[in-house]
Amino acid sequence: MINIRIDSTIEVPGDKSISHRALMLSALTDGESVIHNLSTGEDVETTRKCLEACGLKSNKNNNSLIINGKYLKPPKSTLDCRNSGTSIRLLSGLLSGQGISADFIGDRSLEKRPMDRIIKPLQEMGVKIKSNNGYLPLEINAKDLKGITYSAEVASAQVKSAVLLAALGAKGETRYLEDIQTRDHTEIMLSELGAQIDTGQYISVRRMAKPLSAFTIHVPGDPSSAAFFCGLVAMLPNSKITVKNILANPLRVGFYDILIRMGADVEWNNLHKECGEWVGDVNIFGKPLMGIDITREMIPSIIDELPIISIIASFADGPTTVSGAEELRVKETDRISAICTNLSKMGCDIIEKKDGFIVNPGNKLYGTDIETFDDHRIAMAFTIAGLMTENKNILDNSNCIDISFPEFNKILSTLI
Ligand code: S3P
Repeated sequence: MINIRIDSTIEVPGDKSISHRALMLSALTDGESVIHNLSTGEDVETTRKCLEACGLKSNKNNNSLIINGKYLKPPKSTLDCRNSGTSIRLLSGLLSGQGISADFIGDRSLEKRPMDRIIKPLQEMGVKIKSNNGYLPLEINAKDLKGITYSAEVASAQVKSAVLLAALGAKGETRYLEDIQTRDHTEIMLSELGAQIDTGQYISVRRMAKPLSAFTIHVPGDPSSAAFFCGLVAMLPNSKITVKNILANPLRVGFYDILIRMGADVEWNNLHKECGEWVGDVNIFGKPLMGIDITREMIPSIIDELPIISIIASFADGPTTVSGAEELRVKETDRISAICTNLSKMGCDIIEKKDGFIVNPGNKLYGTDIETFDDHRIAMAFTIAGLMTENKNILDNSNCIDISFPEFNKILSTLI
């Protein structure tokens, strides 16, 4: 392990999931909405551009976006969702609910990601969809949607959100049931903005009787971005970090609970609610860490943090097992394979499983050439891993970090 001691207080840019939703829901309001601290990542800009193609007008003012909600209209050209699964899946639902037909394409990564998971429920609701056997490109023809009762086939907030957003324009009631709860930002925001939504045993949404209320939101810092720095600090005994104003939604803080289970000290302060979401400051104190077992029911709350968790596990004491995480195979890249390939290259004993991996720490790890597969979270996780070895890792593509967190390297350089 190299000799770094961190003692810093930072803030990170706005949460990506909330940023996508704030943009989309501002399009369904009847007034001026203001979004402060919007995620600066390319994915969120993709959503903004797609909405702009559907008539949404927005103006940037410093770190804030001012949006005039007006009825959306059919886009004149194909919507390019580039690398963003959240954009395509949520926009398919949102536009369908507004009776807007659209064609969607994406980049080579998005072309490999399954869309049947949204096609199936949206078709049940009455949307006509053409696809390439469940993959992009998609052609969505939306008219006369009806409410359905749908049980989740995969634990996915993107699928759930697609259905709930479509339900805003569907006749009657739509009910959505999930076995394992996934992030609930869509439900929280819909409820805050006056939609007819109930949550409990299942989520129920009724057709919008009137436009949503225009709003002002300060998007809390992204806990999935902060996880890279918090993970680094957790691995460095005697180091500490405070991240201020980050999202503390219980369905998004799984990573911080995992750090506690591995032996780090994690402390939340100043917890309060903003626009229905928990926000607070988190303090992490590095301690010697131990391996743990991570099982299926925990996966949705750490789905984006598993790359950095794999790195932490490889510097802990004792094995870590991850199971029930096959969803990682259909992210921006096959993240199980990307994690195992790169950690093996670094000298780690890691065993790849269909639905996860087993890390057996103990070997001395070394910096090496990393294949990012153009995946932002693989790039950031292995940048952190390279700080724990004598030689740094060399990434084949660090530009992909801009997908979610363009400020990553700048903030990192202030810490070390
Ligand atoms: C997201 C949900 C997650 C997550 C993605 C963002 C969202 O995907 O991996 O980065 O904003 O709803 P799934 O819900 O499909 O797992």
